[in-house]
Parts: sequence; structure tokens; C-alpha cells
Amino acid sequence: MTSTLRLEKVTPDNVEAACRLKVRPDQERLVAPVVRSLAEAYAQPEVAWPRLIFDGEQLVGFVMGFFLVRFDPDNPEDRLRSGIWRLNIAAGHQGRGYGRFAVESVCAEVRRRGQRRVTVTWVPGEDGPERFYLGLGFRPTGEMSGDQVVGELALTTGA
Ligand SMILES: CC(C)(COP(=O)(O)OP(=O)(O)OC[C@H]1O[C@@H](n2cnc3c(N)ncnc32)[C@H](O)[C@@H]1OP(=O)(O)O)[C@@H](O)C(=O)NCCC(=O)NCCS
Repeated sequence: MTSTLRLEKVTPDNVEAACRLKVRPDQERLVAPVVRSLAEAYAQPEVAWPRLIFDGEQLVGFVMGFFLVRFDPDNPEDRLRSGIWRLNIAAGHQGRGYGRFAVESVCAEVRRRGQRRVTVTWVPGEDGPERFYLGLGFRPTGEMSGDQVVGELALTTGA
């Protein structure tokens, strides 16, 4: 992947472009719009990790990690402790490795925070992101979160 790929925080200069970012119309049922994610990030700033994906000067996507600050390792209900909350690659920019870069970036942040497991949920079905996540190594845990499949990736040391 090109070295011009990077994540940026949401700023006064880029927030309008961020809100205009759209997936394909047929994909809108798969992921919340960026504007909703930013509202949720505002409401839970200690949990949400929203970032814009740039390739050079071009805004190509949005990713939001989540990091639960309170985590009880003895509570089996408390397992969704960090991972990918939202991922929106703009229509017209998909299929060029940006989604992979975003997932790897969240994985790096999870590792930086000393955690070793990355969780994501996805809408099941052939036309959703399931094969994308499976291809990146995520595996279904067998659980559902509402109507979404729960998937996990165990980070290996140093990977
Ligand atoms: C799913 C999504 C994030 C993938 O991002 P992307 O930038 O298009 O994916 P990449 O180019 O990084 O693909 C990485 C790999 O996954 C594969 N892949 C991507 N989407 C896929 C799909 N729908 N089915 C099968 N494989 C897929 C690519 O072929 C590539 O494989 P390779 O490394 O062997 O070449 C993007 O299509 C998207 O935003 N979809 C709509 C919203 C959505 O579903 N978000 C996820 C919410 S949980």
C-alpha cells in the first residue's frame, strides 16, 4: 500500500467533508452514516476513536474504533472491550486496500493500549462485509449482537 495513506483526527477543517462521505446506496443498511458516528463519538469521547482515512489529500473513508475503559475480565458479558465500531470506505474508493489499512490501524491502536483482541460486528449475508473481515483473519465467536454477527481477531505478539 502507498506510503501516502494515513489517519487524521476530525477537525474543524475536515468535518464537513467527513459528513459528506458516503458508501454506495445499496450499502447504507450495513453501516451508520458518518454523521451519526460523530454524534456517538461526541457522546462517548472516552470510548470512541474516530479517524478519517486519507490517501494524499483525498479523503477516502472513516473508521471508528472503540475502547471500553471499564472492563471486568471475570464478567463473560463484558467481552466486547475494544475493536472496530464503524468502517465506511467511500463509494468509488473501495477495493483499493483502504479498508484493510483502516482495520490494521485500529489493530495497532488496540495493541498500543496493551490489548490483544479486536472485536467487530457485521450484518450477515453475501452482500455485506463478512468476507472482507474473514479474509483479514476475523472469526465468528458464535454470538450475535442484535442482528449482527460478532467476530474477533486475536493479535499475535509482534505482528
Ligand atoms: C467492507 C469495506 C469496509 C471494505 O473496504 P475496501 O477498502 O473496499 O476493502 P480493501 O480494498 O481493503 O479489501 C481488502 C481485502 O478484502 C477483500 N474484500 C473487500 N470487500 C470484500 C467483499 N465484500 N467480499 C469479499 N472480499 C472483499 C478485497 O478483495 C481484499 O482482498 P485481497 O487483499 O486478497 O486483495 C467497504 O467495502 C465498505 O465500506 N463497505 C460498506 C460499509 C460496510 O459494510 N462497512 C463495514 C461495517 S461493519
